[in-house]
Amino acid sequence: MDEQLKLIKEEALSAIAAAETPESLNDIRVNVLGKKGSLTALLKGLRDVAPEDRPAAGQKINDVRGEIEKALADAQDNAQKKEQAARLAVEQIDVTLPAKHHTGGHSHPCTIALREMERIFIGMGYEVVEGPEIEKDYYNFEALNIPANHPAKDEQDTFYINADMLLRTQTSSTQIHEMEKGRIPIRMISPGRVYRADEVDATHSPVFHQVEGLVVDKGITFADLKGTLAEFSRQLFGPETKVRFRPHHFPFTEPSAEMDVSCFKCGGKGCSFCKGEGWIEILGCGMVHPHVLEMSGIDPDEYTGFAFGVGLERIALLKYGIDDMRLIYENDIRFLEQF
Ligand code: DAH
Repeated sequence: MDEQLKLIKEEALSAIAAAETPESLNDIRVNVLGKKGSLTALLKGLRDVAPEDRPAAGQKINDVRGEIEKALADAQDNAQKKEQAARLAVEQIDVTLPAKHHTGGHSHPCTIALREMERIFIGMGYEVVEGPEIEKDYYNFEALNIPANHPAKDEQDTFYINADMLLRTQTSSTQIHEMEKGRIPIRMISPGRVYRADEVDATHSPVFHQVEGLVVDKGITFADLKGTLAEFSRQLFGPETKVRFRPHHFPFTEPSAEMDVSCFKCGGKGCSFCKGEGWIEILGCGMVHPHVLEMSGIDPDEYTGFAFGVGLERIALLKYGIDDMRLIYENDIRFLEQF
């Protein structure tokens, strides 16, 4: 037994000396002192020792047990200290390092352009309203004088949720919602997201934004439309800005026009920005079609109105001289920081 005890003690002590982590020390404790440990087995073996020799033998085993326990406790202590020292070394705080700066964000160029447009129209007594992006076919087409099978439906193809729900292709749908409320006079602009089945390129995106405008009251004429949009253009692009109206066709206005502003880079002489034209197209507009008024419950003999629709991205691109619409959506911080 003495031989065995010596062997167990030596093996245990050298294993403890070699152990590096608290976990491996614990393994040694289990293997030697545990229920099925080597030293415990030796203690159980005392049964076979002559009764008169048992106390002395038991004492020897217990002495070794004490030694091993002390060695384990010391090693455990050391391992913990080592671990703590290692952690302190890595977690050290260098108070001389420069502080982290919080870089404040700011508005997106489209948001800046929209706020500017809202400011101008609110100044003229307009209300800002919003309409749904998931819209009934009726509001997006039918009530705007675009019945089923009208060719305009083909130009403005979109995602249909079912036969009569779709992602709106134009904010013009909000005109109908406003008129149906039956509160006249109406003076509103309505900004929002619209959807078309368009491929992404420098001037197209399947998702973009429009700002709709609508005025309905007694005695509204084309002169009101021209005066309002001319004032809007002067405020947005500068006091020297001139406007020109070209006849056009929209199903929900009659007469309809497209409006150009004099190039704010060259003042109308013609430059690379306006492609030598001197004019830049910015919106569609017209007098609200009597049939559209009628469908929304407004008597066209009593009331008239004008409407317009502006592409928000187009205004932002023009205002900031950006030549590719994709930059607007990519959210590259190096681009956005310039505004
Ligand atoms: N909704 C038209 C479009 O997306 C733009 C437009 C044209 C809106 C004339 C109007 C308008 O309100 O009067 O092409």
